[in-house]
Amino acid sequence: MVNWLAGLDGRRVTVEVPATSANLGAGYDCLGLALELVDRVELEVRGWAPGAVELRVDGEGAGELPAGRENRFVAALERILERERGPLPEGLGWGVRMANAIPLARGLGSSAAGTVGGLLAGNALLDEPLPAADLLALAIELEGHPDNVAAALLGGFVIVDAASEPPVAVRCDVPRDLRAVLFVPELRLETRAMREVLPARVPLADAVANLGRVARGVAALVRGDSDGLRALTVDRLHEPYRAKVYPLLPVLVAAAREAGAIGACLSGAGSSVIAFSDSVAAITRIEGALLAAAAEADFAGKVRVVTPRNAGASVVPPA
Ligand code: HSE
Repeated sequence: MVNWLAGLDGRRVTVEVPATSANLGAGYDCLGLALELVDRVELEVRGWAPGAVELRVDGEGAGELPAGRENRFVAALERILERERGPLPEGLGWGVRMANAIPLARGLGSSAAGTVGGLLAGNALLDEPLPAADLLALAIELEGHPDNVAAALLGGFVIVDAASEPPVAVRCDVPRDLRAVLFVPELRLETRAMREVLPARVPLADAVANLGRVARGVAALVRGDSDGLRALTVDRLHEPYRAKVYPLLPVLVAAAREAGAIGACLSGAGSSVIAFSDSVAAITRIEGALLAAAAEADFAGKVRVVTPRNAGASVVPPA
């Protein structure tokens, strides 16, 4: 290995990055929530394996995630190193071992987790020159979905203003007893395709309805009041259009609400549905209602009850 990476040969870094649910209904592209469902990545710098990326994936994405430099984790890792130190030396190889709990293409932020994990690992290798605000801007530039990357990076409930330069994220803790009941279908939906079904213009009345719900929902959550989620999860800007290509979406959302969920909506661009509750009895009813609605439509999937995660992505201290 040559020049600036010589001192890094053999270094290992482990990072953990949470799943995220974007939008929370009305907060399209502006709100995100981190979930206690974590991808863990161990990275080793291999100066003796020039040009090679050896990727091992256990869990979600095993046998599927790209094993070369186009892998999101590796691309983000190399991007931050290049940005900070200039062109990468030729004699550079990586050993990457992933233990992934975030399902792919289900609206739970698996690609954002890869990007944020790569940036965090690269920043750790360089002894953390970049503050969180710079990591956020870089993650948004690489990944394109500010709501997912901000929540993955910071944890908790996150409001992100990506229209400002630089982008700004504000996080707050999630009410302690709140749980997310996820219906995770076998069906995969690609975010790009689910954005193409959205109109370029929306009625002003729909935009105003969403503004009111987002403002009310954010104020309630900041005060630690789960009830604000009820209004927040009712959307008029993206779900009605996405339901045209995913007709079971309103069925699942209605089933969760009728079973007592505080609120329910599409998670990110789908395919998962996320419902909220802070009552053990209601959670059991919501799980049953989601499974029953899916079974009636012969729609395969699983339910998972997940705790929101107040901690964001982190570097795991060496054992
Ligand atoms: N806010 C984005 C969308 C999230 O709904 O398309 C993508 O995960």
